[in-house]
Amino acid sequence: MTAHPGRYPSTRLRRTRQHAWLRSMVAETALAPADLVWPLFVHEHEASHPVASMPGVERLSVDGIVKAAADAAALGIPAIALFPVVEAGHKSDDARHALDPDNLVCRAVRAVKKETGDALGIICDVALDPYTTHGHDGLLREGCILNDETVAVLVKQAAALAEAGCHVVAPSDMMDGRVGAIRAALDAAGRQDVCILSYAAKYASAFYGPFRDAVGSHAALATAASLGVADKKTYQMDPANTAEALREVALDLAEGADMVMVKPAGTALDVIWRVKEAFGVPTLAYQVSGEYAMIQAAAANGWLDGPKAALESLLVMKRAGADCILTYFAPEIARALR
Ligand code: PBG
Repeated sequence: MTAHPGRYPSTRLRRTRQHAWLRSMVAETALAPADLVWPLFVHEHEASHPVASMPGVERLSVDGIVKAAADAAALGIPAIALFPVVEAGHKSDDARHALDPDNLVCRAVRAVKKETGDALGIICDVALDPYTTHGHDGLLREGCILNDETVAVLVKQAAALAEAGCHVVAPSDMMDGRVGAIRAALDAAGRQDVCILSYAAKYASAFYGPFRDAVGSHAALATAASLGVADKKTYQMDPANTAEALREVALDLAEGADMVMVKPAGTALDVIWRVKEAFGVPTLAYQVSGEYAMIQAAAANGWLDGPKAALESLLVMKRAGADCILTYFAPEIARALR
């Protein structure tokens, strides 16, 4: 696209900013409920528990999730993403509870599916962190996160989730080779229709803090520190890198990913842009817990207008090239957009 050759004073860019109707005529980007995915936390208790570091977000019972799913569908939100809060008794070094077809998230998937069928997308994380005693996304031995051994477990976890009825499995673990292995296993099980949304460019980020509070992996990760692996930097990406993000995306696509994710979104708008430009594939962005918490905290202090800041933060992610955004603001924004 070449620059418009206009010159002041015959050209005045303020002319098209005068009225709301005129601004909306020339708007290049729009945000709609269909651009949003709602991440939800499910726990074993009947009562809902607020997440202290994420004001407005609650851990819900399976029934609560079913109700939230119905709300999402009514609001025009295309899909929910489910994250389980796993009881300490179900955590182990080998994450075996992730494979249990009757675990919490599988039960939640079945309950939602029964209610909304194929009218609402159900996305499930594939990663071991909710199920490991040390809170890592992979198996840990002698201070190392094991890649290929972890992939073998992730494949079974993805199969269990697909069997429960989820539409999209979303490996968020950042092990090498897991997309291809999951695709092959799903296909062999006759699950060619289950989509893979790969967290292709997932950065080792401080902005996941509130999420780890929500699912209780913070405390687990603290025990990991004593085992010599306090952070996820040997598998999640260095925020210094973008070329590497493009390589991650290329590999995941070659292995059969249907959609790719960039995460966190707000600190990686350049990455979203480059991924979309380079590959032109469905590109999702995750406005993560810390991004949500920052806006909510400032709003609670009266330091900024929360709903406006939320809307703007999401609009610019679309402008950067995101086709869809996972955000804890999803229901509130969908309501505001109606
Ligand atoms: C775990 C997972 C994380 C998030 C989604 N899946 C946390 C992590 O990698 O430690 C973070 C989401 C958020 O912060 O909102 N595989």
